[in-house]
Amino acid sequence: STIFVITPTYARLVQKAELTRLSQTFLHVPQLHWILVEDSPRKTPLVSNFLMKSGLTYTHLNVPTAKERKLQEGDPSWLKPRGVEQRNEGLRWLREDRKTEPEDDGQQGVVYFADDDNTYSLQLFEEMRSTRRVSVWPVGLVGGMKFESPVVEGGKVVRFHTGWRPSRPFPMDMAGFAVSLRLVLANPDACFDGEAPMGFLESSLLKGLVTVDELEPKADNCTKVLVWHTRTEKPKMKREEALQVQGLGSDPAVEV
Ligand code: UGA
Ligand code: MN
Repeated sequence: STIFVITPTYARLVQKAELTRLSQTFLHVPQLHWILVEDSPRKTPLVSNFLMKSGLTYTHLNVPTAKERKLQEGDPSWLKPRGVEQRNEGLRWLREDRKTEPEDDGQQGVVYFADDDNTYSLQLFEEMRSTRRVSVWPVGLVGGMKFESPVVEGGKVVRFHTGWRPSRPFPMDMAGFAVSLRLVLANPDACFDGEAPMGFLESSLLKGLVTVDELEPKADNCTKVLVWHTRTEKPKMKREEALQVQGLGSDPAVEV
């Protein structure tokens, strides 16, 4: 079955580098359909051209984050959830706009939310392909820990290894689960809540779809880390700015 990967993305200096790394991982995954959703009022030429040349099967969408929902310069990164409207737009497309191929039954598929800056093992995609409802696995380098993970006993998720508010309904990072397309289509109102308090974004979707008891542990009963919550350093532009003052800045016609 097809893996539909929903990725929110936004314009910044490292965007093309992030998308390059991500797309070149996805090129190694059979039957992957990338739903790339720009956080912008228009589809940008950088992303449009990038996708056209990517060699991937994709859908290009865009929706801007409402101004009052967007992080302002200087805000701590945890203040407001990111990528919410974009992931919801991806879900809307799957439910309303997706054309089903004559050869599939229209319901088969898996939905995964892949942020543009994480690091994904190819093995992860093979693990999630057999998702019946919601599958789960560990995420490395997240939550101020080496890894966060569901804890599995007797083949079932019984609790969660996390350093922060284990009482949350689903104390997991976005990268730590996948949902079957059938479940997404059967629950047309399930979506991410942009007003959810910090750490509750994942729960806001999942509580409309499953119970902890129903979670399907993957990656050897959640003992293998196959995805890492890496974050990319913001490049410094001190020299660039100094050169610009002298009219010697990098050629703006060169796309970076
Ligand atoms: C953590 C989680 O891993 C995210 O899944 C969650 O959305 C986020 O926290 C949150 O609190 O909302 P983190 O690394 O802090 O992730 O977040 P980012 O990687 O900066 O952003 C998540 C996604 O949203 C990325 O794909 C990014 O490109 C996108 N994004 C970010 C936007 O579309 N617009 C923005 O203004 C910022
Ligand atoms: Mn991130």
